[in-house]
Amino acid sequence: MKFLIINGPNLNLLGLREPDIYGSQNYEALCRFVGEVCEREGIEYKLFQSNHEGAIVDEIQAAYGVFDAIVINPAAYTHTSVAILDALKAVAIPTAEVHLSDVNRREEFRRHSYVSLVAKKTVCGKGFEGYKEAILFLKDCLSK
Ligand code: DQA
Repeated sequence: MKFLIINGPNLNLLGLREPDIYGSQNYEALCRFVGEVCEREGIEYKLFQSNHEGAIVDEIQAAYGVFDAIVINPAAYTHTSVAILDALKAVAIPTAEVHLSDVNRREEFRRHSYVSLVAKKTVCGKGFEGYKEAILFLKDCLSK
């Protein structure tokens, strides 16, 4: 099983960025956490982070025929990007959406997610653990 884990804009600034909302651990710590979960579960994985919408679209397109599942935290593009939604629909790879914070309990504009329209599951407000929940969910779906 091969999983692609995508993180969108400003998630490279974890630790520095609004720690009261996103926590004090940095992006490298998130990568280690995800890597440990995947290794424990026997999942091959690639981590990808970009601040650019088109680069994320390119990565999703390149995943076709290569990856079995996608875990994505589209960050701010969650609320704006029809292009990322369309790319996920195009490749039709089972996808789970993750948000570190609880987007439903923040500003009104964060309540709408384009990616939720295609995601099999959305986990929010659970910090790093949300990635684990998404990975285990997708592994379970693919094992059935
Ligand atoms: C986020 C929530 C988004 O609203 C925000 O723009 C982010 C991070 C989260 O992980 O909680 O950059 O996706």
